[in-house]
Amino acid sequence: MPNLQGAAITWLGHATVLIQTAKGTTILIDPFIEHNPKFPKGYKLPDKIDLLLLTHGHMDHIADAVPVAKKHGPAVFGMVELIGWLSSKGIPQDKAIGMNIGGSHKHNDVTFTLTGARHSSGISDGDKTVYGGEPAGFVIAIDNGPVLYHAGDTGVFSDMQIIRELHHPTIAMLPIGDHYTMGPKAGALAAMFIGAKTVLPIHWGTFPALTGTPDALEKELSGTNVEVIHTEPGQTLR
Ligand code: NI
Ligand code: MN
Repeated sequence: MPNLQGAAITWLGHATVLIQTAKGTTILIDPFIEHNPKFPKGYKLPDKIDLLLLTHGHMDHIADAVPVAKKHGPAVFGMVELIGWLSSKGIPQDKAIGMNIGGSHKHNDVTFTLTGARHSSGISDGDKTVYGGEPAGFVIAIDNGPVLYHAGDTGVFSDMQIIRELHHPTIAMLPIGDHYTMGPKAGALAAMFIGAKTVLPIHWGTFPALTGTPDALEKELSGTNVEVIHTEPGQTLR
């Protein structure tokens, strides 16, 4: 585990991740809480959440975005079309901030950038599917702290090398469950492209279809110097 320089990372099952910086900025990514079978039982989110970051419009990533926004009052960031839809569903307009691929935003000690992803992003709204814009990931650079990368849902793509060139992430949160995203073999290649020395596997084990495991990823990465983190949802890495 690299030195997080006072930051803390808590995987909350599936793609839901809570990050707290040494200065106390709190970031929640892809809130999937009530219907997430791997969300840690009885886990309480901190009262204050500063930033809610959303990678794409699938319900296993945004199901609890509106309730979290109403209860914890964060500024909510993601692709413009997705954020537009969410503000029509109750996220206050002054807190709903659309971005697009390649754009960055600074909030106190955190600079985050919307990055590309190879996936889809249709939003299920009643019996319709609404266009949610392109799916995305986030690079999160903490002042005097680590650079984190949350890939969102994606297959491996060679432009991950551009993310490496530009941002040099130290920890990569990569989906490895297979079926809806890349599995362990492609995840290992993604880790090479991203160049992070540490991978926190996400989007695995939630549902039976997600068969990729951290052990399998570790096997694919044997002979490299990339460390795979084995952790339980709700356990905080410091
Ligand atoms: Ni998805
Ligand atoms: Mn997903």
